[in-house]
Amino acid sequence: MPRIVRPTAYGTPEVLTVTEVPVPRAAAGTVVVEVRAAGVNPIDWKLYSGTFHAVRENLKDAAGLAATMPSLGLECAGVVTEVGPDVHGVRVGDEVVVYPVTAAYADYVTAPATSILPKPAGLGWAEAGSLMLCGTTAAHALHAAGVDAGDTLLVHGGSGGVGLMGVQLAAARGATVIATASPRNHALLSELGATPVAHGPGLADRVGAAAPQGIDAALDFAGTDEALDVSLELVADRDRIASITGPDRRTEAGIKLLGYGPGQDPGHEVRHAARADLLALAASGTLRVVVDTVFPLTEAAKAHTTGLAGHAPGKLVLIP
Ligand SMILES: NC(=O)c1ccc[n+]([C@@H]2O[C@H](COP(=O)([O-])OP(=O)(O)OC[C@H]3O[C@@H](n4cnc5c(N)ncnc54)[C@H](OP(=O)(O)O)[C@@H]3O)[C@@H](O)[C@H]2O)c1
Repeated sequence: MPRIVRPTAYGTPEVLTVTEVPVPRAAAGTVVVEVRAAGVNPIDWKLYSGTFHAVRENLKDAAGLAATMPSLGLECAGVVTEVGPDVHGVRVGDEVVVYPVTAAYADYVTAPATSILPKPAGLGWAEAGSLMLCGTTAAHALHAAGVDAGDTLLVHGGSGGVGLMGVQLAAARGATVIATASPRNHALLSELGATPVAHGPGLADRVGAAAPQGIDAALDFAGTDEALDVSLELVADRDRIASITGPDRRTEAGIKLLGYGPGQDPGHEVRHAARADLLALAASGTLRVVVDTVFPLTEAAKAHTTGLAGHAPGKLVLIP
């Protein structure tokens, strides 16, 4: 029987459970994909950790939370096994990248046909399955901050999943990129075309030394008070500061807030349009998808524990 990994309660990764389910069927406008690789992202553990919802243990049953636990896995790559009515241009056996989707922590997933793109032949399964969420987020941030050739850009969290994408996409556009990361990740950022600086006290001075010409725009993928304060200090135009995560006081700072929370710009069209470009760049080798560790599907809890601990740079990926 096909397997799916789901949280059975709110809590830490131990709540993730592998259960057997029937192979899903393709309804109109959808396809069924046999998953070969599913990307792991921080939102996956945030969905069941209580980050988005205050959960009081003693109210779980009364609130019916067990019945509404989130599905995990917002991106994957795999092989089409069934095509529903009203779907054109997709055939059984096609190797595809699937984004956005829900419940990709599984052997099979059903996806809207609009979420299906052809997987470039030269791109590995792990890379194809973990490229899209971070890649489209980074592309949206570059768009929102108007980053282009000739700009000097500061990227906070440059060694994270989103950061590695943002650094490479900005460098490919001809921007000069200064990226913050722990020293152990500096060599990788240099390889990808950025000047690395360590985050922590004195950050503004280090960025100033690395970019005496000044900073035109900043992307905050780290979400710390420090990243917000340094961005506000160094970038004159607040329309050129974009943030995907961070403290509540960001809302009063007059910067671009990107994402799915209240008052944030989800950038659906920009992110949707970015998918084909990301695949072309990855296929040509211009964009490197850095994969840190591949886990079997049954070790999803271990993958989340690794992610929560602050893993090495690059993506964590589940392979059914
Ligand atoms: N709004 C959206 O649409 C959206 C989309 C995707 C992700 N997100 C959110 O954005 C955040 C980043 O996602 P991700 O996938 O890139 O996560 P990730 O791969 O876990 O990377 C996080 C990075 O943060 C860096 N970091 C840790 N402590 C730091 C500090 N004190 N100062 C500066 N950087 C620090 C780490 O770099 P070092 O190890 O080098 O220190 C790490 O590489 C998450 O909170 C995620 O939920 C939002």
